[in-house]
Parts: sequence; structure tokens; C-alpha cells
Amino acid sequence: MRSTKRNLSSRVIPVMAFSLVILAASTSQSLSGQPNAAADFKAKCAACHGTNGGGDTVMGKKFTVRDLRSAVVQKQSDEDIHEIITKGKGHMPAFGKTLDGTTIHSMVAYIRGIAQR
Ligand code: HEC
Repeated sequence: MRSTKRNLSSRVIPVMAFSLVILAASTSQSLSGQPNAAADFKAKCAACHGTNGGGDTVMGKKFTVRDLRSAVVQKQSDEDIHEIITKGKGHMPAFGKTLDGTTIHSMVAYIRGIAQR
């Protein structure tokens, strides 16, 4: 009887520990939206908007994107910018299905950040 119990716990504890590691990893990933914003922007947005948001790219010129650092863009509210990224606008693709809310939020913060440089 006793040995059965010991056997059981020696199996359950490693599984629990493993689950905790997974849980910790997934939590830290969702919290790291902010530090990854530059990398996300570069991967998903820079082809058109340029790494600095200036839109000085082949695609940016073709679609005549506005400089994301400019006053006309920056005067829009966080909600407006969030909505443009989520739903798209003109030739701007919608990212609501490929990026989660946290990442889109960090994109808005990133766009605010590049304007201050
Ligand atoms: C295929 C090219 C393309 C990609 C990729 C792209 N955009 Fe755009 N974006 C555009 C175009 C074109 C517009 C202008 C839309 C309009 O006003 O008709 C635009 C507009 C915007 C605007 C509004 C600026 C304004 O004129 O008020 C924001 C904010 C923006 N993009 C953010 C992003 C972010 C963040 C990403 C990456 C997640 C991204 N874009 C990826 C083409 C792109």
C-alpha cells in the first residue's frame, strides 16, 4: 500500500513541476509584449512603414503612407490607432486576426515611442 502511494507521488510531482514551468513560460511571454514591440514592428510593419516609422520604403512610397511620427498621425487617440492596426485601413492590412490585443497595444506604444526620438 505504502509503496503504491510513493510510486504515485513520484510520478505526479514531476508532472506538476513540468506544468508549472510551462505556466511560468507562457505567463512571461504574455508580459513581454513591450520589449518585443520593436522586433514585432520590424517583422510585421517595417516593410511598409520602415523601421523608424517614416514610411521611406518601396511599399510605403507605393501606398503613400504617412510618417507615423508626424503630428497628423500622432494626434489620433490610442483607440484610433489601435483600431487602424486591428481592422486595417485602405492598403493597410488588418492585424486583428494575426496579432493579439496585447501585441497591438504594444504596437501603439511603440508608435508613440518612435515619435519622441
Ligand atoms: C502592406 C503594407 C503595410 C503594412 C505591412 C503595415 N501597414 Fe500600416 N499602413 C499602410 C498604409 C498603406 C496605410 C495608410 C492607410 C490609409 O490611410 O489609407 C497605413 C496606415 C497605418 C496607420 C495609420 C497612420 C495614419 O495615416 O493615420 C498606422 C498607425 C499603421 N499603419 C500602423 C501599422 C502597424 C503597427 C503595422 C504592423 C503591425 C502596419 N501598419 C503594417 C500600410 C501597411
